[in-house]
Amino acid sequence: IQTVIYDGAEGASMAVANEIRDIIKERQKSGKNAVLGLATGSTPVRLYRELIRMHRDEGLSFANVITFNLDEYYGLSGDHPESYRRFMQDQLFDHVDIPEANTHVPDGLVAREEVFASCSAYEEAINAAGGIDIQILGIGRTGHIGFNEPGSGPDSRTRLVTLDSLTRRDAARDFLGEQNVPRHAITMGVGTILDAKKVFLLAWGEAKAEVIAQAVEETPTDIIPASFLQSHANCVFNVDRSAASQLT
Ligand code: F6R
Repeated sequence: IQTVIYDGAEGASMAVANEIRDIIKERQKSGKNAVLGLATGSTPVRLYRELIRMHRDEGLSFANVITFNLDEYYGLSGDHPESYRRFMQDQLFDHVDIPEANTHVPDGLVAREEVFASCSAYEEAINAAGGIDIQILGIGRTGHIGFNEPGSGPDSRTRLVTLDSLTRRDAARDFLGEQNVPRHAITMGVGTILDAKKVFLLAWGEAKAEVIAQAVEETPTDIIPASFLQSHANCVFNVDRSAASQLT
């Protein structure tokens, strides 16, 4: 893991936006697609705002972009206000020229007996697109990436998971109460994430300082699933000073 410390979230987000712009443009020249793995939550909001600005002010086109989101709450439809599909439409997709068919978010409403097939199909779609060029990640206080909670192994693939109680507590405000937070989610696995060609993990603020230090400095362990990123050959943590404050 290469850790880059920025004064604030703004600069760290800009740097990733520039990388995304570069790969989109490079692929445009050769008539190919750029494949992005995307995250939701508060962390990537500035990044998406900058991508929208590039589209609006610089004419950056997303016509050749294919996206795969990390995860979705199980049981929520795409138009539920707290669904990750809704989040992506609001924060990015509705503001750029990406074809709807190019955007993929796991289906939160798939029937139990179809979950396995649906998750396999998600993995196959990623492979059919040529694999993920750039994967964007946030990190949860449990050490999760996507919704790979403690106990998730490095070979885990897209699947139905149970959310950690700390994760549900952290989401309580968005859902107006912990009792309303879904108990399960569908998430890409740690192995799915590790297959991406390049990974950027973003983290801001004091609340992420401890888990960032654990992910970067501890021996890889499924107690902190983000620590498995240490085995990735091309993984950068873009963090602000607060999130970096417990690194030795
Ligand atoms: C979101 C996701 C999660 C979040 C993490 C941090 O798609 O997969 O791993 O990245 O929970 O959330 P925020 O950014 O809200 O602190």
